[in-house]
Amino acid sequence: MKWCRHCCGDSESETGPDHGRQKGATMCRNLSNYALVFLFIALSGFIFLLCNIHTVENWNCHTISALYQLQSRIHSSFISVNLPTFNHNRTFCAHLGQKPSAEDELEERYLLDSITWPGPPPSSPPISLRQTSDPVHSLFTLLPTEGGRVWHLGEELEAFVQIHDFQGRPKRYGGDFLLARLHSPELGAGVAGMVVDHKNGFYSALFPLLWVGPAQVEITMVHSSEAVAVLRRLREERPDRVFFKSLFRLGFLSETTVCNMCLPSDQQPLCNYTDLYTGEPWYCYKPKMLSCDTRINHAKGGYLKHLITNKEALLFQSGVNIKVPLRASGTDRINVLPQKDKPEGESSSMKPERNQLAPSGFYYEHSWRPFGGAAARQFNESSAVAECLRNKVINLYGDSTVRQWFEYLITFVPELKEFNLHSPKKVGPLMAVDSTHNILLKYRCHGPPIRFTTVMSSELRYISNELDGLSGGPNTVVVLSIWAHFSTFPVEVYIRRLRHIRRALVRLMERAPGTLVVIRSANLQALDQEVSLYNSDWYSLQLDMVLKAMFKGLNVLIVDAWQMSSAHHLPHALHPPQVIVKNMMDVLLNYVCPEKKKS
Ligand SMILES: *[C@@H]1O[C@H](CO)[C@@H](O)[C@H](O)[C@H]1NC(C)=O
Ligand SMILES: *[C@@H]1O[C@H](CO)[C@@H](O)[C@H](O)[C@H]1NC(C)=O
Ligand SMILES: *[C@@H]1O[C@H](CO)[C@@H](O)[C@H](O)[C@H]1NC(C)=O
Repeated sequence: MKWCRHCCGDSESETGPDHGRQKGATMCRNLSNYALVFLFIALSGFIFLLCNIHTVENWNCHTISALYQLQSRIHSSFISVNLPTFNHNRTFCAHLGQKPSAEDELEERYLLDSITWPGPPPSSPPISLRQTSDPVHSLFTLLPTEGGRVWHLGEELEAFVQIHDFQGRPKRYGGDFLLARLHSPELGAGVAGMVVDHKNGFYSALFPLLWVGPAQVEITMVHSSEAVAVLRRLREERPDRVFFKSLFRLGFLSETTVCNMCLPSDQQPLCNYTDLYTGEPWYCYKPKMLSCDTRINHAKGGYLKHLITNKEALLFQSGVNIKVPLRASGTDRINVLPQKDKPEGESSSMKPERNQLAPSGFYYEHSWRPFGGAAARQFNESSAVAECLRNKVINLYGDSTVRQWFEYLITFVPELKEFNLHSPKKVGPLMAVDSTHNILLKYRCHGPPIRFTTVMSSELRYISNELDGLSGGPNTVVVLSIWAHFSTFPVEVYIRRLRHIRRALVRLMERAPGTLVVIRSANLQALDQEVSLYNSDWYSLQLDMVLKAMFKGLNVLIVDAWQMSSAHHLPHALHPPQVIVKNMMDVLLNYVCPEKKKS
């Protein structure tokens, strides 16, 4: 058994023409490549039997491998037609898994309430595009509108937004997703504005004035409220719109089936991969011939198409109603004067309200200045980075947005050499070592529903379980980034995942005080129609608000990637450009080695 598995699994790329005299090769040739499938399966079964009963001592493994490859090809053509049909008027995923405690349920209720989003009146008949929000007909005005107003450092600027439809008529309800930014290209300055929805077609965008000199307002409609309503429906009803697959293999037999957090169980038997420690649910359809414990890997299966009607598709048009800037009525520019009635050098006294949407920092001279006391030292030299990370073990866990940090660090610090673990570059696990400075940097992706190409089952781990396996301590840095692969599921799924991670973090910090924990939040990305339906910034924003709320009050530091991408002038990208990553690294490094206070 052992022998058979070993030799069959390891020789996939060889076809072994030199062993033609042996029994297996002869049989293979006689099969003349593409015999009837059932004949082939019968033969597979025969070989399988032989392998199992140890009667054939020098079976030609190369033959088995060739059979395996052929079978893989046959199976991969099955996958596209084997998708489950969901009952689309029900939420499946949210309430699977362990039943939450009363306290957890209360928190969940609170979190869901805190992210409620206004929208079109529920009873309204289906409306045409002409009645939906149109950025071209919409306007913003800086308040107060009378001329002669002067602005000072530390004050608040308000832009008043009025949304109109394509016919130019004012909208009467809220729910449009707007982004606001105050910036100054001359000064390399920018800050994200806080948008308040008055739920009647009017919005206010509020900006703290944080620098002296020119500043200009930019307001962008990401989606109309009608589009957000479609996104919300997809999130609740179509958790299947990204699907997953797993390969099962035993010896030369292999099958691929569809997997997800929840699968309709009335269609085929399931394999239950619910995690024993956390109770996180995960299922695959059971392969026809193999058992559930022969799962080899996990991979993104694909994206379902035809999710919306032609009419709904009009709500998602690049250049029309996805991420289109609004015009200003009057000026969009102001000039900020030094602070009024305050002695010079007291500018740090202004502290914007600590609200989740309130600014957490701003760019000045192209460098991010976080509020809340963290220093803004810049790490321009690789030697400074290496010195800062000396004697640290840095564990990065999550999606590709934190893998990007791994890639940045090994590129920026030449002594930090990637150690070849023979794992796929885009999947990991990854590891880099700087033996001069005694630095160990590691990356591991989060568990399902990770949407990577192919992760081996043996490498598929939940972050909370990984955290339970860390010793921790003052030399340990833990960095988490987990958001991008949850956008296709109801928010309850994300809340449950973060709850498990939070519990593991509390345990870690209790047994190993001094462990530094940093969370990288979600960021904005480039959107078109297709990306919107699976990964819209609206989904990310909702997850981001939940993330920040759930780790509030814990000894956990945040790198606010949301605001750092929102306040920056470069186009939004799932993997932000290097200059933004450099700023994120500076924030991280300031957390890892804060400047020693002179006493
Ligand atoms: C889903 O919709 C169908 C058709 O409208 C209905 O018959 C069925 O009962 C609904 N199922 C649930 C669970 O709401
Ligand atoms: C899957 O396994 C978990 C844990 O053993 C169990 O709680 C859950 O009910 C199972 N799911 C199904 C559909 O049987
Ligand atoms: C780091 O580089 C930036 C951009 O080149 C520069 O503006 C800044 O002054 C540098 N900071 C330090 C501390 O060298």
